[in-house]
Amino acid sequence: MRFSYVTLFEGLIASYFEDSILKRAIAKELLSVEFFNPRDYTLNKHGKVDDYQASGGAGLVFFPQPLFDLLRSIKHASPEAYIIFPTPSGKLFTQNDAKRLAKKKHLVFVSGRYEGIDERVIETFADELFCIGDYVLTGGELPSLVMSDAISRNIKGVLGNEDSLSMESFESPLLEAPCFSKPPIYENKSVPSEFLKGNHAKITSLKNKMSESKTKYFRPDLFSRFNAKH
Ligand code: ADE
Repeated sequence: MRFSYVTLFEGLIASYFEDSILKRAIAKELLSVEFFNPRDYTLNKHGKVDDYQASGGAGLVFFPQPLFDLLRSIKHASPEAYIIFPTPSGKLFTQNDAKRLAKKKHLVFVSGRYEGIDERVIETFADELFCIGDYVLTGGELPSLVMSDAISRNIKGVLGNEDSLSMESFESPLLEAPCFSKPPIYENKSVPSEFLKGNHAKITSLKNKMSESKTKYFRPDLFSRFNAKH
């Protein structure tokens, strides 16, 4: 997978790939990461990328020219580039999207700042628009990273243990059961005794029950969908 980030702030994104699982994925050549700065594509000598809104009103927006030239050159060099705009007005990004997008070869994330991006850029280049949750962030860099991370772990070979994919929350309609480590008792709180007895059928059945109660409590919306199907 090739990830391209269009951003004014490369450093915000680059550091995330310098540790842990995604660093290893780059070393194994399962992922590659590159950056494009809209300022490098401006025709004005000050590298200005934003301007007042045509409608008036507070806040600046990215004007079209630098992003048109930049995205056109990416598409020209890589016709398979699939362009994603993170925005609070996009569709909610889900695990299904992460799995689906993990099959693409080249994803481009375009991070807005300020009030946003001139709509004509989005109309011309967007393959999809995604929101990562109902709150507003200061720019698209974090949402781009959130999506890249969720997508990456669905690329074969990125996670050491592929089993961890199938057992977790959102792979099933229920949230994942709580997990425990050692020691069996810590500050008077114990690991559920069934977990320590080694009977895998019983452990699975207990985990399923825990998943159900956890989902019912924390995510009644998911639970009613689950209930409707079972
Ligand atoms: N940009 C600012 N807030 C956002 C959000 N919640 N999701 C995606 N992009 C955003």
